[in-house]
Parts: sequence; C-alpha cells; structure tokens
Amino acid sequence: MSLSVSRRLAAVTAIAVAGLFASTAPAALASPTAPAAPASPAAATAAPTPPDIPIANVKAHLTQLQSIATANGGNRAHGKAGYKASIDYVKAKLDAAGYTTTLQTFTSSGATGYNLIADWPGGDPNSVLMSGSHLDSVNAGPGINDNGSGSAAILETALAVSRAGLQSTKHLRFGWWGAEELGMVGSTYYVNNLPSAEKSKISGYLNFDMVGSPNPGYFVYDDDATIEQTFKTYFAGVGIPTEIETEGDGRSDHAPFKNAGIPVGGLFSGADYIKTAAQAQKWGGTSGKAFDACYHRSCDTSANLDDAALDKNSDAIAYAVWTLGAAATVPPGRSFENTTDINIPDSPAAGVSSPITVSGVTGNAPATTKVDVNIVHTYRGDLQIDLIAPDGTAYRLKNSSSDSADNVIASYTVNASSEVANGVWKLQVKDVAAQDVGYINSWKITF
Ligand code: TRP
Ligand code: ZN
Ligand code: CA
Repeated sequence: MSLSVSRRLAAVTAIAVAGLFASTAPAALASPTAPAAPASPAAATAAPTPPDIPIANVKAHLTQLQSIATANGGNRAHGKAGYKASIDYVKAKLDAAGYTTTLQTFTSSGATGYNLIADWPGGDPNSVLMSGSHLDSVNAGPGINDNGSGSAAILETALAVSRAGLQSTKHLRFGWWGAEELGMVGSTYYVNNLPSAEKSKISGYLNFDMVGSPNPGYFVYDDDATIEQTFKTYFAGVGIPTEIETEGDGRSDHAPFKNAGIPVGGLFSGADYIKTAAQAQKWGGTSGKAFDACYHRSCDTSANLDDAALDKNSDAIAYAVWTLGAAATVPPGRSFENTTDINIPDSPAAGVSSPITVSGVTGNAPATTKVDVNIVHTYRGDLQIDLIAPDGTAYRLKNSSSDSADNVIASYTVNASSEVANGVWKLQVKDVAAQDVGYINSWKITF
C-alpha cells in the first residue's frame, strides 16, 4: 500500500475525532471481546398470502390427461400405457419447477405400478406436510373427475409453491398414487415401505380424490381437527357451506396414512351418492341426481367437471398448504444488531469479529440477507470483511484494496439461503496493511 504522509496525518486526525465524539468508542477499544448488544426486537411476523390457483392451469392439466387417455385406449388405468404417460406428464412439470421427484415402483395384479413423490426443497425435515391424490383411472374411462381433478389441483398447487419461491416452515411433499382403484395399492405400498422414523416425521396428510364433480357437494373430511378447521375456514371465507364427508370413510388414499397414526384430512365433491334437496338448496345443482353420475364410467371425461367446484377446491388446497405448511415463514425485515464497538488492531494481527446471536427465526436465512456495516477507519482499503454464518461458512463482503477513503458504511446483500438463520453470526474484519486503524462501530443483519 502506498499512502502519502499528509494522507496519514489526516487519517490520524480522523480517528482522534471519531474517538472524541463517539462516546462508546473508548470502552469498546478497551474491550474488543465485549458481549453482543441484545438483538433488536423482531418485527411483526407476516404469514405469506395463499395464492389464487389459476383454474385455467388446472384445466389445462386435465386437458392433457384427457388427451393421454384418448391416445391410449380411453383410460389411464393401472398397468396401462395411459397411466405411465400420466405419471410422465406430472413428473416433467415438477422437475421443471425445481422439485426433487422420486418414482416408486410396485407390482399389483402382475403389472408394474408407479407412485410419484415430489419434495419441495427446504422446510423442517422433521415436520412434513404431505398432499396426495391418486392418478390412476378405472379401466372404463379416462378418470378426469376421478381423479384427474385432485391430481391436477395438487400439481398446480405444487407449481404455485415454486412460483412463489415459498420458504415453507414444514417440509412440503406431494404424492400421486398408482392403483388406488384396485384398493389403494400404491398409497398402501408407500406407507408400508416408509421407515417408522420417516412416518413419524409426517405431521399431516391431505387427500384429494374427486374435487370437480359436475353436480358438486363441498365435503370436508372429519379427521384431524386442525386440518378440518383449516378447510372450513377457507370455505367460510368464500361463503360456501360445507358438510362432513360421509360417502365412505377410508375409501381413498388417506386410509393407509390414518391407519399408520398420521393426522389426515381432505376434500371431496361427491361420487355416486345422490344430492338431496337440502344440498341442492345450499350448493345449487340438481337434487335427486348423483354428485358424479359418470363416476367410474366412460363419460368421466373433461366435460365431466364443475369449474366452480374445481376452482374453489384448488384454492382451498393452496390455502391449506400455505396455512398448515408455511404459517411461520421467515418474516421479512427482521433485524438483529450489535452496536458494541470493537477495536480493529493494525496489521499484522488476526482479524476481530463482532457476534450477533439470532434466535426466533424459523428456517433458513433468505437469499437476500442484508448486512449493514458501519466501520470507522482511517483507510478502508486495509480492510477485508466477511460475514461468518453460524456453521462457520464465510461470505466475503469486501476485499482489501487500494481504496483510499475513510470508513466502511455500506449495505451488502448476501445469498445465505443455505444457512440456518438461528445461531451466532459474526462480522469478521481483518486489517491487512500497517498504519491505519479503526473500529467496528456497529453492524446489523436483516432476514
Ligand atoms: N376413492 C373412490 C374412487 O376413487 C371415490 C370415493 C368414493 C371417495 N367415496 C369417497 C373418495 C369418499 C374420498 C372420500 O373410486
Ligand atoms: Zn378416486
Ligand atoms: Ca492498517
């Protein structure tokens, strides 16, 4: 480093002035290992707003599933080409959206069956919120309401999670089951092959089997109370009365989860039961007629849907995933500050660091973690500055240079998304050239 004598004299004056006017500086200079000042209080936590799922997207998936059936003998049944093509379609969408997908195979009735599992990266691995739908149809038809509807609704919810870049509190998982129509074969296989430690990590399973019935009812499963209430709250908010699902408990893929002791819930718009006059009164549609007169028939095509039911149920699914899975995401703008001054010894010397203990922030730090640095120094070019994450990972904020100016008063954005937010963060400052000195005045980290 080259520096003129006059510059050095000016620098000495500057540090003297700083020492005079910064009342806390002398104490800090004498105690560079002073404990961190208490973190500033957290801002109010804000849960992310659940999205309105675009019904056009859900219907576009159903159009594709209909085309797949049409091209493959009119169905998407277990063991048939239309089933595997359906799995491939869903998997490609999820892979492109950043999901980690797993194809699980099993054998049933002499044919290979497939479950598709999609994990959204992040969230607490010990608390998993899983949503699932069976993707197979019966042999008789394309299975668009049963159960292209649930499959498309959770697919579009999963894609909405990706579009939102949702930082969920819980780990989010989605599943598409094979061979449900043969007796919940795929979902049973999945649950039976989960190690018990993995089973106990699933905090809830949400099932969606038939959510676009053409003469719809709005049924909520009467299982786990929290899940049930979450759906009821959504429907109350949009002014739609609900009833408890009674068309046959245990008739879908939530049954094996429930039998394994996992809290379950779900939605259902009705199958072969007949809509009563009272139900037609509150929901519209036709009394004396089945909720889905094409249930398990060749006419369960892309015409066999009620768009309003499909729309509201899709939005209810997203509401539940956001509410149950992301209620306490890292609230934006929570700041923690250390205002204790810390002397930076002149080179050659080891660096010093100023700690901040972060607590009460769930999950990882954001990709836009902000670090505000306030260092009083007579020659900023001497300073090399790093942010040290709780696990010791260093993020370089500033290199040393021949930057001939006083002080570092700057704001840096760090992609710290692979770091757990809670723990002790440090601002590490090293002086790499002799003569000029200063101190860390304060620094602040904002999540
Ligand atoms: N699982 C059934 C099927 O796919 C449909 C069904 C009937 C259903 N009653 C139900 C789904 C009750 C959920 C809840 O054929
Ligand atoms: Zn079904
Ligand atoms: Ca120096």
